[in-house]
Amino acid sequence: MQLRLPPSFLWGAALSSYQVEGQNFNSDWYLWERQKDLKQAGSACNHYHLFANDFKLAQQLNLNSLRISVEWARISPDASSFSEKELEHYLNVIQSLKDHNLKPIITLHHFTNPIWFSEKGGWLDHKNIDYFLKYLRKTIQYLKDKVEYWLIFNEPLVYLYNGFIEGIWPPGEQSLKSAKKALDNILKAYLLGYQEIKSIYQGTSITPRVSLAKNMRVFSPYPDYKLALNSLTAGIRSRLFNYFILEYLHKKRALDFIGLNYYGKEYDKFSGFLGKEGQYLASEERKNSLGWTINSRDFYKALVSLKKFNLPVLITENGTAEDDPVLYQDYLLSHLRSLGLAIKEGLDVRGYLWWSLIDNFEWDKGFSKRFGLFEVDYSNFQREPREFSAVYSKIAGENQIEI
Ligand code: BGC
Repeated sequence: MQLRLPPSFLWGAALSSYQVEGQNFNSDWYLWERQKDLKQAGSACNHYHLFANDFKLAQQLNLNSLRISVEWARISPDASSFSEKELEHYLNVIQSLKDHNLKPIITLHHFTNPIWFSEKGGWLDHKNIDYFLKYLRKTIQYLKDKVEYWLIFNEPLVYLYNGFIEGIWPPGEQSLKSAKKALDNILKAYLLGYQEIKSIYQGTSITPRVSLAKNMRVFSPYPDYKLALNSLTAGIRSRLFNYFILEYLHKKRALDFIGLNYYGKEYDKFSGFLGKEGQYLASEERKNSLGWTINSRDFYKALVSLKKFNLPVLITENGTAEDDPVLYQDYLLSHLRSLGLAIKEGLDVRGYLWWSLIDNFEWDKGFSKRFGLFEVDYSNFQREPREFSAVYSKIAGENQIEI
């Protein structure tokens, strides 16, 4: 059966500045790659110069929206000034989105910080919140006439886990105490930023829609003899990772919608307070090229669990990186089916953005994992459509999902 969607439904894709732009010298990730001898983002996809070309590709796929991020380190080259040139650049980028009939969805913080901000203690020092707010204020004032959708942060808990607990991302901390401190500061920055955006738009003809991109994962108990304890672990991990931030911000009335990033699931074993992930695959499941467990029915579960918030939902990221090209289409269709079923159940979904429009720099994993609707040849920056992009294009054009 085909489920028709409203004409306002957003069909799009997502990108982030550091992962595609290239030459972000002033960003903490730039230093980190060198300090840790990781694969370097370098020119990435050269999107900084090729943005209009990329937006044309998106438009040709029948997409009507695109999520991008603006790079704080470009806009604030140091603690006390802003770069008019870079603000102007982003103004042109957003104008170009509009010229290509793509509704801009703009992220302000997608994992990266300016080096000067990290040197001042980054998110560990509450005095630094003000620097973020200055950047937010300046950026919103500059771009406000062209943007309705703002995401203040991308996946705060993923950022904190990798950067402050595992230590595999900058600033490379390995301390629960630091993670908690950074979380408090990020939440404070979000709440103040939310108010700030609302007041900047006051008296204008645009009602801004403000949220964050929240990663959700389905946590299932590892099916061994400790099933009861494993269930408890999965429950705790789910509460902390999936719902804590959403509930907190919702209670503060600081979410206009839920931005949801969803990729896969994990099986949990009882062990210590936070438990740990166990390796398991149920019969209908498989792993993608990053080793993530793919189960599209769980996407449905994650979605319907959001009904209790009674807020619109925008899928700000969903996607996969595969070795076998056939599997992209498989993933797309099965996840869209789950999305359609959740919509039929009454979830108010406003749009779906595939991660990612083009292959890009996958953080500590370099360029080998490819999520793009378009494959990038990094030797010459050519983009070639992957086969499944035609399927996505047809769905977006017809504005209906097979359920
Ligand atoms: C992040 C992206 C990342 C993608 C795939 C998301 O969690 O927002 O930056 O590339 O996952 O790992």
